[in-house]
Amino acid sequence: MNRLDELRRRHAAAEQGGGPERRERQHKEGKLSARERIELLLDESTFEELDKLVTHRCRDFGMDEQNVPGDGFVTGYGRIEGRLVYVFAQDFTVFGGSLSETNAQKICKIMDLALKTGAPVIGLNDSGGARIQEGVVSLAGYADIFLRNTLASGVVPQISAIMGPCAGGAVYSPAITDFVFMVDHTSYMFVTGPDVIKTVTHEDVTKEKLGGAATHNSVSGVGHFTAADDGDCLRMIRELLSYLPQNNREDAPRRATADPADRMDAALDTVVPAESSLPYDIKDVIHRVVDDGEFFEVHEHWARNIVVGFAHMDGRSIGIVANQPAFLAGCLDIASSTKGARFVRFCDAFNIPILTFEDVPGFLPGTEQEFGGIIRHGAKLLYAYAEATVPKITVITRKAYGGAYCVMGSKHIRTDINLAWPSAEIAVMGPEGAVNIVYRRELAAAEDKAAVRQQKVDEFRERFANPFVAAERGYVDDVIEPRETRPRVIRALRMLESKVDTMPRKKHGNIPL
Ligand code: HXC
Repeated sequence: MNRLDELRRRHAAAEQGGGPERRERQHKEGKLSARERIELLLDESTFEELDKLVTHRCRDFGMDEQNVPGDGFVTGYGRIEGRLVYVFAQDFTVFGGSLSETNAQKICKIMDLALKTGAPVIGLNDSGGARIQEGVVSLAGYADIFLRNTLASGVVPQISAIMGPCAGGAVYSPAITDFVFMVDHTSYMFVTGPDVIKTVTHEDVTKEKLGGAATHNSVSGVGHFTAADDGDCLRMIRELLSYLPQNNREDAPRRATADPADRMDAALDTVVPAESSLPYDIKDVIHRVVDDGEFFEVHEHWARNIVVGFAHMDGRSIGIVANQPAFLAGCLDIASSTKGARFVRFCDAFNIPILTFEDVPGFLPGTEQEFGGIIRHGAKLLYAYAEATVPKITVITRKAYGGAYCVMGSKHIRTDINLAWPSAEIAVMGPEGAVNIVYRRELAAAEDKAAVRQQKVDEFRERFANPFVAAERGYVDDVIEPRETRPRVIRALRMLESKVDTMPRKKHGNIPL
């Protein structure tokens, strides 16, 4: 056989993967093959494959008889909207997409290139985990990848899509990356599977309930996005990237918009209900303020009392963090603090300005929260906001009470521009709670307790539950009409474009994990 034929034969064998039957099985399960996924993910004809001819080196258990060029992982680089990305896809048709020594090296190779060239890494996971026949050599491969995930964290965006099994220690690579997509019904992630759980704790649980997309997107928070199928997942990854820079030295791409920077919206004037205890949907506010009403929500189904996600304003990518009065009254709790903190840190690492909408009655009371460590978790959000040096703008739409006032992008933790709507209530606590404490004795002694209480509550509300005390101090830079929010925020963003702020010299901080 001449060399050209030999080359073609090897290429064809690599493209065949585990063969037509296994591919057919993959399709029957509603999953695409590794190569089909890459094709859908990248701009047409831009994929450059690397290490297609690499083979595994295992000689045990008859493995020397079974050698597929490429060894089941497809790795390389390509373009998304013309921008460079690195990608690897695990091919479940080759030894169940299991990780061998050699395909760990393939992943490390593209990750090293991504760090040197400053471009995102996207991993499409569909794997039975460590290649059992290779033993510790495969484990070493995982650890090599974990190291690179950690080194690349905060340098280039790292995105994981779970499109099949992802179990055991293998979950820790996606867990270190910035965003985890999961495909509904065909993907699952867990450290120990249902069988081990049954043996150890006698619990009966299915794979789907234990680690499916719904569980990780609404209960554990491990997943950031749920996709209906493979195609949907790959499309969402492309969309997410449109908000992100290539690396931590660049800004996200600007996008042309026909939405005027000076657009006012009178509907915002009546979004907040007159009765301060009534809910409203903060996403209505977000949609009305950002370019073209487009908001790409992250962690949509988890910790819904805080809303985080990306949008554009004035064509510029921004990260939005917003309390959600429509869920748990917008209280901060353990999950929402963690969710907000992680998002703020991502934006800060990648030069994305942070716009905060604040309507928070405080931290969620209860033994569950205290025993769960709300002190430590709430501190994460405070820490993340305080250390962030990107442009920060906060708009207080209604409540800004107690510690939560300080945490949610207050002036005191280096927020650049703080605006408040006239409906803002900025105080140590709500009028009812304050009156109970401050006037405890008077209330106990009063004959008409209800009337005295009401009078004191009204007094307190009049004196403190407004934005003007804070404005008089300069803690908010201005009280604005809600309709003006978009132009005011855009002008602030333009002003802050050249912002430089720094941290004291240190190896790294010690965020309360
Ligand atoms: C080698 C593997 C494999 C593995 C699957 N295969 N997992 N080969 N190493 N880890 C092979 C199977 O032999 C089979 O080969 C093909 O892949 C498809 O597997 P099936 O079992 O037929 O598929 P399915 O029924 O869909 O089940 C998928 C599965 C199951 C749930 C993932 O294969 C499974 O439980 N695999 C083992 C998972 C595991 O315990 N891995 C180690 C986890 S610990 P043929 O030739 O028949 O097609 C780990 C540690 C990481 O990963 C450590 C990091 C620090």
